[in-house]
Amino acid sequence: MNSTSARITTIVTSMLAAVLAGAPVMAQQQRVASIIDYGSRHHSVIDQGGMVAVQNAIAAEVGADILAAGGNAVDAAVAVGLTLAVTLPRAGNLGGGGFMLVYLADEDRTIAIDYRERAPGAASRDMFLKADGEPDNRASRFSYRSAGVPGTVAGMHHALTQYGSMSWREVLEPAIRVASRGMQVSLDLSQTLKRRRESLGRDPETLRTYYMAVGAPFEAGDTLRLMDLAWSLTALAIDGPDAFYRGVIAEKIVAAMQANDGLITLDDLDNYRITEREPVVGTYREATIVSMPPPSSGGVLLIQMLNVLEQFELGSFGYGSAKAVHLMAEAMRRAYADRSEHLGDPDYYTAPVDWLMSKAYSRKLAAEIDLRAARRSADIAPGVNAGYESPDTTHYAVVDAAGNVVANTYTLNFSYGSGITVPGTGILLNNEMDDFSAKPGSPNGYGLLGGEANAIEAGKRPLSSMTPTIVFRDGKPWIVTGSPGGSRIITTVLQVIVNVIDFEMSISDAVAAPRFHNQWFPDRLFMEPGFSPDTLAILDEMGHEIDARPRTMGSAQTILLEDGYQKGAADPRRPDALAIGPRSLGCRNAKVACAH
Ligand code: GLY
Repeated sequence: MNSTSARITTIVTSMLAAVLAGAPVMAQQQRVASIIDYGSRHHSVIDQGGMVAVQNAIAAEVGADILAAGGNAVDAAVAVGLTLAVTLPRAGNLGGGGFMLVYLADEDRTIAIDYRERAPGAASRDMFLKADGEPDNRASRFSYRSAGVPGTVAGMHHALTQYGSMSWREVLEPAIRVASRGMQVSLDLSQTLKRRRESLGRDPETLRTYYMAVGAPFEAGDTLRLMDLAWSLTALAIDGPDAFYRGVIAEKIVAAMQANDGLITLDDLDNYRITEREPVVGTYREATIVSMPPPSSGGVLLIQMLNVLEQFELGSFGYGSAKAVHLMAEAMRRAYADRSEHLGDPDYYTAPVDWLMSKAYSRKLAAEIDLRAARRSADIAPGVNAGYESPDTTHYAVVDAAGNVVANTYTLNFSYGSGITVPGTGILLNNEMDDFSAKPGSPNGYGLLGGEANAIEAGKRPLSSMTPTIVFRDGKPWIVTGSPGGSRIITTVLQVIVNVIDFEMSISDAVAAPRFHNQWFPDRLFMEPGFSPDTLAILDEMGHEIDARPRTMGSAQTILLEDGYQKGAADPRRPDALAIGPRSLGCRNAKVACAH
């Protein structure tokens, strides 16, 4: 070897050594790049010790503290749910109900807890019809009669005692502390109370509880103490759920019902039971979808719509393209037509769930879609119509370091429910009776139609749209999501999933991306701000009736689990939303800023 080639050999060898020495660094860089989504415009909060994503920051921090103290996902979820009853009174609650999915990592099993409200024993099919046979909307929405028997306390207690590790008192403590010491009123809370001053002010107890002594709304930065609610929470800590269903709180609820022509009796409260149900399960491309079964319509419709979309190369259409929006809107239209006809409380009505979620049925629906033109909803199911539901449900997601997962959606129905507070308790009552079809064939508070399947019966649960969902990949939980938004809940969840799977977005971008919604009737395509005018023009030409008023839809507090990390995506549509873990590696010193 001459000296030149020897030098070349030396240089090449040293270059090779440098490359090899750098290889772990490069691999590490790639690895880091895959943990943080650098291609993302919105960033997740990242942790390895668990994660909570909640619409309200105070409650989110309570959840993270519980995880940091060694609590599991269920402990944290129950503490969050009880705290939201204080800090997010328009949706968090003791006087409402909801649905919780719990995934137990040890057992590789998902449980669906149905703690939906039930119609009181004296409820009857025509209870909200006026003498002329038309529905009495005021009675079904803003009276003591509008309340179903609440399930939240029983649901939270059941989840904790069956699947949690901490005591009931421990998880109640943060809620009692915030209610009694007071919380700083956020701009969000202040504004919603101002907006609802007139309607909430009709109930003297709500006025006394949630407004100042002179009836003035609290300003942002003021301190709000909820002493009656603290009393109720303390009663729950002392006597357990019996306080609510048999004891001191039950007595106050029933006394108020009797004084105000309400229907809920001590027997109704005493007889309230949660139900554990089998979740509905479907597949979408490589993923498995596990979601809420009836009496929520959410899981069935979600799986039906995904089955239809699976027949198309949706990813190649491109996010936000007219073609993609059109296809998805057509899948939505058909699913909501089925909702009105086929779904109700499975304890009272046998819904054809397997058929609705079958691949065979979806192939038929997909074949009916014209990729160039919108169908008219009236052509799909003439003579029946529907609208949309309450935006003031709330959803949160919790994951712990051991891989246990909770997706919980619960509600009072409307914002602040019926607007009625049970005297002496601080507890707002739901108006969930309006989710029944008061008169089959007539729309409810938000226009949703129901048929016989959702007619009022004593003890029955009204049909819901709540869609707490866990998406599995390779047999492990991958995406934990859900949303408020009434009937828009289901299409919100659909879009979070499709944005990740088909449009390959990071979880934070998937949650933030503009959404749209079609629910068969009214025959309209609701578009959030953020879609291109060109897309809107093409959709209009295709025959869609576009409603692009500047309103947002849903609030999908979501967590993605990947490679041992939990990525929390707080939905930027809610100003107080927060994703936070015990350590929040992605944004240690700027929790709120990073959450968005
Ligand atoms: N109250 C809204 C829902 O249950 O979907």
